[in-house]
Amino acid sequence: MRVIVTGGAGYIGSHVVRALQRAGHAPIVLDDLSTGHLALVERNGVELIQGDVGSRDVLEQAFTSHRPEAVIHLAGLALVGESVDDPAPYFAVNTVAGYTLLEAMRAHGVDRIVFSSTCAVYGVPEELPITERSPLEPVSPYGASKLAFERMLFAYARAYGLKALSLRFFNVAGADPDGDLGEMRHEETHLLPLLLRAARRRELFELFGTNYRTRDGSAERDYVHVVDIARAFVHALERLEVIDPLPFGGALNLGTGRGTTVREMIAATERELGCEIAVKTVPRRAGDPPALVADPSLSRKVLGFGARHDVATMIRSANRFLEAEIDRGADVFKSYLPGGSMPNPNGGSSRVRFGEAVVSAGILDEEVVAHALKIQRDRDGIGESHKLLGLILLEMGAISNDQLIGILKRINVR
Ligand SMILES: NC(=O)c1ccc[n+]([C@@H]2O[C@H](COP(=O)([O-])OP(=O)(O)OC[C@H]3O[C@@H](n4cnc5c(N)ncnc54)[C@H](O)[C@@H]3O)[C@@H](O)[C@H]2O)c1
Repeated sequence: MRVIVTGGAGYIGSHVVRALQRAGHAPIVLDDLSTGHLALVERNGVELIQGDVGSRDVLEQAFTSHRPEAVIHLAGLALVGESVDDPAPYFAVNTVAGYTLLEAMRAHGVDRIVFSSTCAVYGVPEELPITERSPLEPVSPYGASKLAFERMLFAYARAYGLKALSLRFFNVAGADPDGDLGEMRHEETHLLPLLLRAARRRELFELFGTNYRTRDGSAERDYVHVVDIARAFVHALERLEVIDPLPFGGALNLGTGRGTTVREMIAATERELGCEIAVKTVPRRAGDPPALVADPSLSRKVLGFGARHDVATMIRSANRFLEAEIDRGADVFKSYLPGGSMPNPNGGSSRVRFGEAVVSAGILDEEVVAHALKIQRDRDGIGESHKLLGLILLEMGAISNDQLIGILKRINVR
């Protein structure tokens, strides 16, 4: 199928493009690159129509020259806090531009669309897990703008026979296993990238809210691997021919049914990266629900969707992408480079990473350590755990046995 993927230069969109290609479809990206990246389009080797999804001219040109058979619509604005302060662009892009897109589809006889919606349409749920029948009461303009477009889709489906499905994702995380697609944002608000940044910079991670009624007091979310989400889009597109979404309201939850708290995510990140993350607890943010966990049974039934990847895989793949991007010199990740020693909230001495210690002891320069880290990454694929770094440096002949023992004595490596 020839498929226009709006937002295909973004985090989730670039993974959807790759999943479509792997399934034998022919995606074309329509994106204004406002938060997306040309590099993600180029790495997929796909054509880009650079423009606003709300522009009639752009859409007219895209539909005339590419004659798509379907649309996957991911272009949108997605910062909850920003939408509260400045809702107008959220309704303009997430709702009004969607109307223009649907009209272009009608004019060109394109009758299949899968839309990236969000669990923000549920607001603060009273009961868990969240089913598609749970009350739709968004608490942010972001959620409201997405719900408005879902409703538009439903009305078009009923009145004009449009085959439309909204996929309400919960928290998306992780990266393609190849390490060339992933999450790259100038303004980062998502938990896992923030944890990776705190770990890398050895700086305090701010944990918002520790008195929620969850098993450890921190907020709980349902994390889904981006590769699973991308696969679900392909399934949805392929099944639109045979399923009728109207009887179940036109929308499906994409979650795993398992929640992970912020504290559990911190512990898992420490485990996977072999480091400690210093945490500073701060009060709750207004409007953050205590827990959002999906009931995924309907999407399992309708799409055969089942998440295959766990949280550990999300952390490892996201970290692999981050390291590869830093190696490639990506601007977005300049702020992720270490900028000081890790503060210790308990007041004791913090652990110093092995690589830093050899550099600060004047034994090696940073390039040699960076090279050893690269060898380590290529070898075990689990990131910059410093456990084996000393042995790799020894193997490279960069340090002697005595130096290795000396450094290990100086620092407190677990
Ligand atoms: N990331 C999550 O955890 C998550 C969760 C639920 C829903 N979603 C939804 O998934 C979609 C994609 O999210 P993402 O995390 O990949 O974000 P992203 O910012 O990486 O991707 C959005 C893409 O849309 C493009 N875009 C924005 N406005 C546009 C416009 N007017 N015209 C053309 N292109 C435009 C951006 O350039 C970007 O490439 C969003 O619609 C978001 O609401 C994301």
